[in-house]
This record gives sequence, C-alpha cells and structure tokens, in this order.
Amino acid sequence: MVQQHLSYEEMTNLGCFYTPQKFVDKLIAIVKANVPDYDKHVFLDSSCGYGSFLSSLYPLRTIGCDIDEKAIEKAKLLCPGCEYHVANTLHAFTRASIDLSADKKLLIIGNPPYNDTTSKVKNSIKNSEPCAIDADLKTRDLGISFLLSYNKLQPDYVAVLHPLSYMIKKANHALLKPFYDNYRLVDHCIVNSQEFGSTSRTKGFPIILALYEKSASGLKYSDVLNMRFKTIDGKCFDLKHDYVKNYIAKYPSKYSRYKDGDILFFTMRDINALNRSKTFIEEWSDNAIIIDKKKFAYYCYVDVFKDYICKLPYYYGNCDVFIDNAAFLAVQDVFVTKSMEKHPWLKEKAAYTENRNFHLIDDYFAKLFDL
Ligand SMILES: C[S@@+](CC[C@H](N)C(=O)[O-])C[C@H]1O[C@@H](n2cnc3c(N)ncnc32)[C@H](O)[C@@H]1O
Repeated sequence: MVQQHLSYEEMTNLGCFYTPQKFVDKLIAIVKANVPDYDKHVFLDSSCGYGSFLSSLYPLRTIGCDIDEKAIEKAKLLCPGCEYHVANTLHAFTRASIDLSADKKLLIIGNPPYNDTTSKVKNSIKNSEPCAIDADLKTRDLGISFLLSYNKLQPDYVAVLHPLSYMIKKANHALLKPFYDNYRLVDHCIVNSQEFGSTSRTKGFPIILALYEKSASGLKYSDVLNMRFKTIDGKCFDLKHDYVKNYIAKYPSKYSRYKDGDILFFTMRDINALNRSKTFIEEWSDNAIIIDKKKFAYYCYVDVFKDYICKLPYYYGNCDVFIDNAAFLAVQDVFVTKSMEKHPWLKEKAAYTENRNFHLIDDYFAKLFDL
C-alpha cells in the first residue's frame, strides 16, 4: 500500500517508505516456510504503517503499533480484526505496554524506518531528534534503534526488512551487539532499495528481508564474512574480496600537514559514497587525504573504479572498493594513464609510464564484477 497522508518532509523524518506488496508477500512466505508453528505466535509489527504485514496473517493475536495516528486510523480500515495502538515503540515500550506476558511466543514482523541522522543525503529536511528514544536504544540510525528495541521484547522470531549495511558494516554490527548476541539468521533474501518508490534516487543499496531466530550463539561478525547472500532474482554474492583499504589509507591522518607538491584525495567510504564523492582534489580540506606517492597507482585505481560503479550490481553498494591485486598490478600503468587523462593537472605532480590500452581496464572490471 502506497503511503498517502504525509508530506515528503514528514515521510523522511518518520522513515515512512512503505513496503511494496511483493516484498511483504516474500517476507511472509519466508516466515511460513521456516517457522513451523507460526500460527502459535503472537504477531507484532511495532511500526506498522497501514498494516500491510498484518493483513495476510491469521495467528492467535495480531498487534500493530505506530507513532503516526493517521496511519493507525487507516490500518484499522484496511486491515480490521487486528489490535492497534498509537505508540512510540522506541520509548518505554515493553511487553506490558501491549499486555503480553513473558511466556507468550512472540514473532515481530515489519519494516522499521531507516533514517541515518548523520547522513548527508537529505539532511536538510531531517530533524536531528524526531522522537524520544530510550537511552539504551539511541543510535545514529532509527532502524538500528528498532532492532535493539526488538531485542528488549525477547521475541522468538524477528522477520524484518533492514539495510544490509546494518549487518555487514563492522561498526553497525558492533552497535547491534545486544541484538546479534541473541539472534541468528535463519533465511533471507536481498532486494534493491530503489524499488521503494521515492527513496535513494541515485544508486540503490541492498535491503535484506531477514528472518532471525532467538539463539544462544547469535550471529557473529565472522559468520557474516563467510555468508553467501541470495538476491530476490536468484543471484548470489559474498563479501570475500580483497579490498583497496588493505593497501591505502581511506581517511585523512590527523598527523599529516599539507605542503606544496602533495597530491590530495577525497576521503573514501563505501562504494555508493564514492559514486557521489570526488576522488583527486586540488584544494586542501578536512576531508583530504595526503597520499603516499609510492601508492599513487592505487588511488588511480579508486578514481577509475568510480567510473565503473554504474556497471556494478546494487548489492555491492555498501562494500568498500574491492580489488584483484595481482590482476591490477599487471595493468597499473593503464589505470594511472587513465587518471592522468581525467585530471591533467596531476601530470606535474607524479611521474608515470603512458599505456593507453584502455580496453585492459574494461577487461579487468568485466572479470572483477563478473559481468
Ligand atoms: C518504513 S515505514 C513502514 C510502514 C509499514 N510497516 C510498511 O512497511 O508498509 C516505518 C513506519 O514507522 C513508523 N514510526 C517511525 N518512528 C516510530 C516510532 N518511534 N514508534 C512507532 N512507529 C514509528 C512510521 O510512522 C512509519 O509508519
């Protein structure tokens, strides 16, 4: 169901990008296939919007909560027969708030808002603090706070959509430690954020439809690094790459001082950030890395990689820039020549051997991206 009652600004602040029906159906299918006694669980969607995840389920008791009163009014019409509460489920929300005793089997389902309060994208219309949040749930991203809030309710299962970056970025996985200490991934499917209407108009990022089960072993970061991910259209991928960060600095050093003749490169984050950011820069700033000239070719590699991001599948968007180091070293002169052509002012600052066999770069990326 497409969200109808909020302005773009309100939508951004509440993280209100309602789930396309085919992803609702897919998540419900994952639940039915993997939770043998799913009809013996109480279902809760603590950010239910119009209630799309509640309508096709017939378990014991179905509860929908949302902070948005108008959404709840609409859910009552669209999906009658469920119990609804207008509630801020990130603040003082417990099983008692929905009259649910500790012995009841609980399955949390839904698509919480994702709203990175530190992200530069759309920051001009984001509130820094959209609602009150319990101290132990407060993080820089509403979606991470929601996953932590589920952990406090101790459900048996959590069936949820969230950015894959929550799981695969080490810093996010660490923020989610209370959750990932208690829940393991049972089944999943990866989809493209671009299919959520008005979100991410530039390059899409991967969203996981995840079914987690309570488990004493949880989901360790080392498990994530060894995982094979499946996309909704039958592709598979993993994170077992060699990354360019293993060869060069991604961030500026506090200790280096800029001097004439230095070559500057913009801070590197993930692949989607590189797609939006600059590479070689002429002006000094806090975001400038002073490069080690011995590693110049690797920076040219990142500069040229940026031009090939359009060919890279969306599901690599949150990964660091990856590299096949041996294959790259064999053709590094071609990468350097390409960068010199893009930024002629570099020619004064670095020596190079011209090699204009640019088809070797196409061949390199075709192999690296498995095109
Ligand atoms: C991504 S939408 C998902 C809506 C619906 N579950 C769907 O997928 O179609 C996120 C929902 O979270 C709600 N929300 C945002 N902050 C909330 C909070 N603190 N407590 C409860 N609901 C909240 C928004 O009003 C919005 O309806």
